[in-house]
Amino acid sequence: MIDTTVKTYGTINILVNNAGIMDNMEPAGDITDEQWKRVFAVNTTSVMRSTRKVLPIFLEKQKGVIVNIASAGGLQGARAGAAYTASKHAVVGFTKNTGFMYATKGIRCNAIAPGGVETNIGTSITGINPFGASRQQLGMALNPRIGKSEEIAKVALFLASEDSSFVNGTVIAADAGWTAY
Ligand SMILES: NC(=O)c1ccc[n+]([C@@H]2O[C@H](COP(=O)([O-])OP(=O)(O)OC[C@H]3O[C@@H](n4cnc5c(N)ncnc54)[C@H](O)[C@@H]3O)[C@@H](O)[C@H]2O)c1
Repeated sequence: MIDTTVKTYGTINILVNNAGIMDNMEPAGDITDEQWKRVFAVNTTSVMRSTRKVLPIFLEKQKGVIVNIASAGGLQGARAGAAYTASKHAVVGFTKNTGFMYATKGIRCNAIAPGGVETNIGTSITGINPFGASRQQLGMALNPRIGKSEEIAKVALFLASEDSSFVNGTVIAADAGWTAY
């Protein structure tokens, strides 16, 4: 992906790590190794690998922006199952570490923690865990509303632009106030 971008456009200025999948709302006792590995591969390891791959380019230029799409599930305990929750908490930690490590190198790394957004992510659920889902659903009563993708894209644009030049190594919740409770 990054090689193709450089080949096509000559360089790369902004990396957005957006790809992600849901788990099946499983609590710890019901996670299979296969599901844990799958969720972490797509949600977490991918973020590390694309960041690692882009860094030599950003370091050479002493300039670059990374925007990671985490989740409200990366800040709170039960917005999904244990695997998704842990995978997004890891993205938050990785974002903070990367932001701080390269803060003097002209590179910024931030994350967005979206609340519920109208997308196709439900298609990555392969079978709901009834107990986990019943626990997860309790918090939905506090959700002010479901967002639109554009409302997350606007935050990504802000984080990718010079308007956020002093914002680094942090997470911006975009969730209509869901995590504020
Ligand atoms: N929709 C929500 O309510 C919500 C809430 C919080 C966070 N997020 C996060 O937002 C991000 C985007 O998800 P979305 O809601 O737009 O879902 P989506 O399913 O509409 O989009 C996810 C994208 O990731 C891609 N993807 C999945 N697995 C991949 C793989 N192995 N390799 C390459 N690409 C892969 C899919 O092709 C798809 O384009 C994810 O990281 C998700 O965890 C979504």
